[in-house]
Amino acid sequence: MSDTDVLRERRRRVESEWSGVDFDGPVLIPASLPIPIDGTDQFHEFHAHPEFQYLTGVAEPGAALAWEPDAGWTLFAPSLTVEDLVWMSAPPSAAELAMQTGVSHSVDRSELSGWLESRRGRGMALLGSRDIEQRATEYGVEAWSTLEAIVDEDATDRLGKALAELRRAKDSVELDRMTRAVDAAVAGHLAAQRLARHGLTERALQIEMEAEFFRQGGARTAYGSIVGSGPNSAILHGTPGERVMWDGELVLIDAGAEIEGYASDVTRTFPVSAEFTGMQRDLYNVVLAAQQEAIAGAGPGVEYKSLHLQASATIAQGLVDTGILRGSVEDLVAADAHALFFSHGLGHMLGLSTHDCGGYLEGRVPEDRFGLAYLRADLPLEPGYVVTIEPGVYFVPALLNDPARRERYAEMVDWEIVNGLLDFGGIRIEDDVLITPGGCDVMSEALPKAAAEIEAIRRDALGMSSG
Ligand code: GLY
Ligand code: MN
Repeated sequence: MSDTDVLRERRRRVESEWSGVDFDGPVLIPASLPIPIDGTDQFHEFHAHPEFQYLTGVAEPGAALAWEPDAGWTLFAPSLTVEDLVWMSAPPSAAELAMQTGVSHSVDRSELSGWLESRRGRGMALLGSRDIEQRATEYGVEAWSTLEAIVDEDATDRLGKALAELRRAKDSVELDRMTRAVDAAVAGHLAAQRLARHGLTERALQIEMEAEFFRQGGARTAYGSIVGSGPNSAILHGTPGERVMWDGELVLIDAGAEIEGYASDVTRTFPVSAEFTGMQRDLYNVVLAAQQEAIAGAGPGVEYKSLHLQASATIAQGLVDTGILRGSVEDLVAADAHALFFSHGLGHMLGLSTHDCGGYLEGRVPEDRFGLAYLRADLPLEPGYVVTIEPGVYFVPALLNDPARRERYAEMVDWEIVNGLLDFGGIRIEDDVLITPGGCDVMSEALPKAAAEIEAIRRDALGMSSG
């Protein structure tokens, strides 16, 4: 099947799903407009609304897609004025967009006004970007209020949920894009692992890693790259800075490339010197065991939350083995004691967004408990879903110095040991995992993660003989 055939099939599935939602009005799905940067004549990097990009396969600023049960799909292609074209590249024409997307009824966006006018006063579902409500004239139509467009919020919500459910399982075009994004991420991580050494800044690692993402076809990073050395490796979403890394410390890199809108999201943690220290190795192997068990358990019908709880138990056991926690694993996990050190969820759905839609099954919501509050997916896995599996262990001073937590976990935590580890930093290992009919495939498996493999890369990078 050609890419456009896959896109047509995707829209057919959406139509069929939407026909089960009791709404027969028009649906408008704007792509979103570029956001200007103050003090320049330029715009922030453009991110198309994922619903628009899913339904068209393209990311065209200022475009909009419409659907109606009788009329089917219409794509409104933006065109620029002669004055705009002095400053900006020409967008694809309506005919070119029709070829790329397979939406045969692709017309110039100047027709959007008439389309809205002839639906004046009718309830409409508004998916995609809602910027059209404030910036209607930039889509080439009248101010939203004068259009008397009535957004049926209930229908919008129901159609949006149906679309999010369909977006969970990735089709062949999506998986091709994601595979390329993951491959670029793997190449960038390897470049960083080969470059890291005592005296280098986090920022220097980021620059070389991202350069490799881009050389491998990455359009940009999927999210702000996280590079943390030493204590900074415990900052879950830390921004790389001018901090210099030292022998004896860990470096945590959580970074992915984006290709044709699709994200990869990979994390590795490695020593600045050639080898892990004793405690680093012990805790690294705890995180690795939790990660590998979760991957081994992932497959169709498996509840993602049960994988998270299993990983929590493995981490709790590892923290007991290293003397950091005291008590039975069951009691520790029930009390969220492990979450003092593993303070996020096992991972999330991955796709057009780094934290992709559809993570929670309809009717489920994140739990209040600290050990579950940051879990970004709670659903049974199905073939075609791509999820991250990314357990970690961190020493976050803000959490561990909190008097209320010290009191609550007075018996369960050996605070003497913890006091000596407050500048340890953190360890996370993250892979992108495609659920298959028989289990799962680790899309990022080309990036080594066994402690011995990482040490071999580091020894080689530092010009030391192996063994
Ligand atoms: N890689 C960043 C995150 O998953 O939040
Ligand atoms: Mn992630």
